Amino acid sequence: MYKIAVLPGDGTGPEVIDEGLKVLDAVASKAGFKYEKIMYDLGGERYKKTGEILPDSVLEELRTVDAIYLGAIGHPDVKPGILEKGLLLALRFGLDQYINLRPVKLYPGVETPIKDKGPNEIDFVVVRENTEGLYTGTGGSLKKGTPDEVAIQTSVNTRKGVERCLKYAFEYTKKRNKTNTLTLVGKTNVLTHAFDLWERAFHEIGEKDYSGIKREYAHVDATCMWFVKNPEWFDVIVTDNMFGDIITDLGAMIQGGMGVAAGGNINPEGVSMFEPIGGSAPKYAGKGVINPLAAICAGGMLLETLGEDKAAAMVEQAVMSVTANKLKSLSAGKMGYSTSEVGDLVVEALG
Ligand code: IPM
Ligand code: MN
Repeated sequence: MYKIAVLPGDGTGPEVIDEGLKVLDAVASKAGFKYEKIMYDLGGERYKKTGEILPDSVLEELRTVDAIYLGAIGHPDVKPGILEKGLLLALRFGLDQYINLRPVKLYPGVETPIKDKGPNEIDFVVVRENTEGLYTGTGGSLKKGTPDEVAIQTSVNTRKGVERCLKYAFEYTKKRNKTNTLTLVGKTNVLTHAFDLWERAFHEIGEKDYSGIKREYAHVDATCMWFVKNPEWFDVIVTDNMFGDIITDLGAMIQGGMGVAAGGNINPEGVSMFEPIGGSAPKYAGKGVINPLAAICAGGMLLETLGEDKAAAMVEQAVMSVTANKLKSLSAGKMGYSTSEVGDLVVEALG
């Protein structure tokens, strides 16, 4: 019996999480496992009512669950940064989810804006460091509001943090066993402190423990170009927090859009959290038009992390059959089905 904490969150989060849970319920009975849901109403509405973002007691409870299933964070009435930092980043940091795993896979029947590329060419995974870099909040400002104002935001890269991320990426590449190529994405020509550390650690670890994995390096700007020009070059990418954030939005676009892009915030030794990466999309909230596939795929990733590999594969197969045979488009309002009908189609396709 697994304990899964569910945080539907803001905007379209609750709608897509409903469909994700519908699919989890169905696959649980087919694959023969049980889980208990623990619902949390964290997010913009609760913050507006009570001023609470992430009470300590909730963080402590979340340490005891098997996984967390998150909808979306971000509310139009709350100043940007408050919920993102106070809830999403606080969970990632608080639970030491040091990996952000984001598969970029074009499913059959899904349109990509990249000409002449299909599911064979667009199939790679980004391993984003998730607790360091520019995201630590290190820095400060001076003389704010004056012409002499100074703003400093520091990228923090620790040997320990970089190493554990690289190790995860090497292991993941080995397990994936596609072309056994791990590409470090950085900016060694300008960020000569940060990416010097990354590059040395990358080659040291690779040479010592992963002789079977081919090591490549690409600058982050060139990587954006390759995503569009030759996405088939990538198998697994490892990169820092900020670059990983940026390139995975581009990755989401080439795999058919935010409607299908899922990610996991992973602590391999602790509690991991899975989410559609698209955000709360407030303009579509409550309309039943948002695409729930990203949330459903995030649920599949959650199952994989629990060790329910068969159930995870069933979910992915079902999603692929729905994209191949049913949906007109993956965009909100253009799917040819409502949010909840798409959830039903996936359940049907589970067989
Ligand atoms: C993401 C998001 C977050 C990030 C924001 C909402 C803080 O863009 O998950 O990619 O920057 O990590
Ligand atoms: Mn992002």
